Amino acid sequence: MGVDIVLGGSASAYLARKVAERLGVEFAVLETRKFPDGETYVRVPIDVAGRKVALVQSMYRTPNEYLAEFLLASKTLKDLGASEIIAVIPYLPYMRQDSRFKPGEALSAKIVAELMEWCEVSTLITVDLHLHRFRSPSELFRVRVRNLTAAGELAKAAVEEFSLKPPLIVGPDEEAEQWARIAAEAVNAEYIVLRKERSSDEEVRVMGAADVTGRDVLIIDDIVSTGGTLAETARLLKAVGAPRVYAACTHALLVSGAEAKLYAAGIDAFIATDSVPNPYAIVSIAPLVAEALREV
Ligand code: R5P
Repeated sequence: MGVDIVLGGSASAYLARKVAERLGVEFAVLETRKFPDGETYVRVPIDVAGRKVALVQSMYRTPNEYLAEFLLASKTLKDLGASEIIAVIPYLPYMRQDSRFKPGEALSAKIVAELMEWCEVSTLITVDLHLHRFRSPSELFRVRVRNLTAAGELAKAAVEEFSLKPPLIVGPDEEAEQWARIAAEAVNAEYIVLRKERSSDEEVRVMGAADVTGRDVLIIDDIVSTGGTLAETARLLKAVGAPRVYAACTHALLVSGAEAKLYAAGIDAFIATDSVPNPYAIVSIAPLVAEALREV
């Protein structure tokens, strides 16, 4: 049980180091660079023959580049004789395109899930995988998946950090029910789930009602990307009387001026995990990942 080596991809060397330290196993960083035409160069800098390797790569901000690096690295590990490869992809992109919303669209979630087989990984460890129309990892992936959750730890950290009275936990949309429920259980609080309609990549409308008068509110979601979802949720909650609104997300991608949007919408404070690098990472997912790696 466990792994022999934790190998960090260029997206997640900091996280891989934390995980390796917790496990007390060898740590290395993949050697990577860009060729002049933009192609990715990858080199495994250590001997992996006959050894069990955890390859850590969260695919944020430039997901295509990090995915390409992961594909090159995992196949190389296999070529070099690694006995087993465990993919640790805390933030796995492309999962939101889990349906053909318009004729002819790529079913990206399915394709990326199939790539894991092609990479010959034995297990995928991920965190708060975006599961919506596919309800469980086994409906999408043929490799074994450990889908960890940071929702409980985020809720506990928010309550402590912001000295919250037992908060009302709010999931902004249907798929956030899974994280809101876990967060509420962790801090012994109630939760509600709102409704969201997306009209474009950056525009959403959040609807629903709740009695929030005098209550601390904590919005929980898996991803904050452009910030539209959190901002619209906070606006609605403030409009119906919430005095203080906090937010916590596992994967803080924070693109397109998201932070400014959150604060303009009246969010009092925001926290996240270190699944991707960001300035709000109060909760580390390293203990969760290390524990899962001990068990594989
Ligand atoms: C999708 O429904 C996810 O759970 C998040 O709510 C969404 O990705 C957040 O995106 P944005 O911050 O751009 O609204």
